[in-house]
Amino acid sequence: MIADAFLWVLNRTPPLRRTLWRLFFDVLANRFGDVGWWTLMNYGYADLDCSTRALALDPADDPERYPIALYHHVATLAPIAGREVLEVGSGRGGGASFVARYLAPARMVGVDLSGQAVKFCNRHHRLGNLHFQQGDAERLPFTDACFDNVINVESSFCYPSIDRFFGEVKRVLRPGGYLHYTDLRLVHEIADWRAALARSGLELVHERDITANVIEALHRDTPRRRAGGRRIVSGPFSRIADTFTGVDGTRIPSLLASGEMVYFSFLLRKE
Ligand SMILES: C[S@@+](CC[C@H](N)C(=O)[O-])C[C@H]1O[C@@H](n2cnc3c(N)ncnc32)[C@H](O)[C@@H]1O
Repeated sequence: MIADAFLWVLNRTPPLRRTLWRLFFDVLANRFGDVGWWTLMNYGYADLDCSTRALALDPADDPERYPIALYHHVATLAPIAGREVLEVGSGRGGGASFVARYLAPARMVGVDLSGQAVKFCNRHHRLGNLHFQQGDAERLPFTDACFDNVINVESSFCYPSIDRFFGEVKRVLRPGGYLHYTDLRLVHEIADWRAALARSGLELVHERDITANVIEALHRDTPRRRAGGRRIVSGPFSRIADTFTGVDGTRIPSLLASGEMVYFSFLLRKE
């Protein structure tokens, strides 16, 4: 209920949206900063095709298999190896760390609005080809044309202006570079979302409705999500944690299952 109220306020106050999300993710990183077992914050992806080989992961990565699989799905839509890659909205860094370790980019930079999340990432993920810095998706702290790929996973729903975000992605990408993009929207928001994609000036190379994959991932991952919430909050607050983590029967899985919310992946290319 409190989680629903928070989401209701956020969705109706675009001017406050950036500040409230930053405070929210700062509190998460501050309060639960050293919880190393929790490094990803997306709803995950499950392969529905049984013939597809399961993603081979190190045992240490296995608990976060479904949120990692969402990164695998979107990051492998175009080549990454040997390229310079930016992630916008890198959160607690588990996705950028997966890309840096498994997909061999020359350099990977994670940017997030939450300074506390960035501090957590630079403490927790120490790799030669990866670093994190604070920055706003709508004012990226980089010069023009300095990345080959930009990754954005379940973060753009927080941005007050999706047009400014796409404009910044186009600016920092080199010609021929790719935006690997995935997020969720309520059905009534889809027309505006598609219009913004069309206005972005980026060429749409691929799009896929992955709602069923996300529903299945949340279902399979519910025991871990429920247990994780209870490791950090207890009593009446555990229901709020369930809502934010997307445990079966809460708001997000229910909206996805009823068709009121959809989850898409896109690959866009700068000419
Ligand atoms: C749901 S989390 C997803 C994090 C990560 N992509 C993952 O999948 O684990 C959304 C992230 O977007 C970040 N964020 C929100 N607004 C942002 C902005 N304007 N610029 C950069 N990051 C932003 C939040 O701080 C948060 O870390």
